[in-house]
Amino acid sequence: MEYIKSAAFEVSNSDPAKCPRPDKPEYAFIGRSNVGKSSLINMLVNKKALAKTSSTPGKTQLINHFIINKEERKPWYLVDLPGYGFAKAPLKEKEKWERMIRTYLARRENLMCVMVLIDIRHDARPIDLAFMEQLGENEIPFVMVFTKADKMGAGAIEKSLAAYEQVMLTRWAAIPERFVTSAESRLGRDELIGFMHSTNRGFELPK
Ligand code: GTP
Ligand code: MG
Repeated sequence: MEYIKSAAFEVSNSDPAKCPRPDKPEYAFIGRSNVGKSSLINMLVNKKALAKTSSTPGKTQLINHFIINKEERKPWYLVDLPGYGFAKAPLKEKEKWERMIRTYLARRENLMCVMVLIDIRHDARPIDLAFMEQLGENEIPFVMVFTKADKMGAGAIEKSLAAYEQVMLTRWAAIPERFVTSAESRLGRDELIGFMHSTNRGFELPK
């Protein structure tokens, strides 16, 4: 079953107040700079370059709304956000991005779930753990999406997931739902789209 019939760029913003009206369910993709947010969105929507990607970290600098199934009865949004933790960015820029992301997360009433992207090759990083903790404190639903799985063998993937789980268990009573993906091999596409499709059913128009 192909749940994504079409995908189109809608708007980019630096000011979260100017994002589209929150009348459709939306999913925000976030994680460290270069983790593969834009590539994953392109993979999900079957388009090579809908979201701009780059091997240089810090490519995505704005909040980008992509509308899914615009012509259908129930459209929804995928949102590409700038990454956090880009070491080389000037402090002023970093603070600006952080403020933008914080405001975005606080005000999008239609945000169904934050997709927290984590490079499967790396050990649990304090910056990702802290970001997820902030989401938890603010009661913002999120799932973990491990990226770049094509760069590892099956055994190494299992090991990496188990190690991450151990770290999460020291902080969380229950482990958030997780997905293993690759923008290269398209691993995890059906699972991720299926998850968003079923989560869409819980959407209610903000009052
Ligand atoms: P920023 O917008 O800078 O925060 O980065 P981003 O998280 O959007 O990452 P982007 O999608 O631009 O990808 C960064 C680099 O990783 C690019 O060189 C991609 O080709 C590569 N990449 C992304 N996803 C995958 C993947 O699943 N497998 C492999 N092998 N490479 C990937
Ligand atoms: Mg990007």
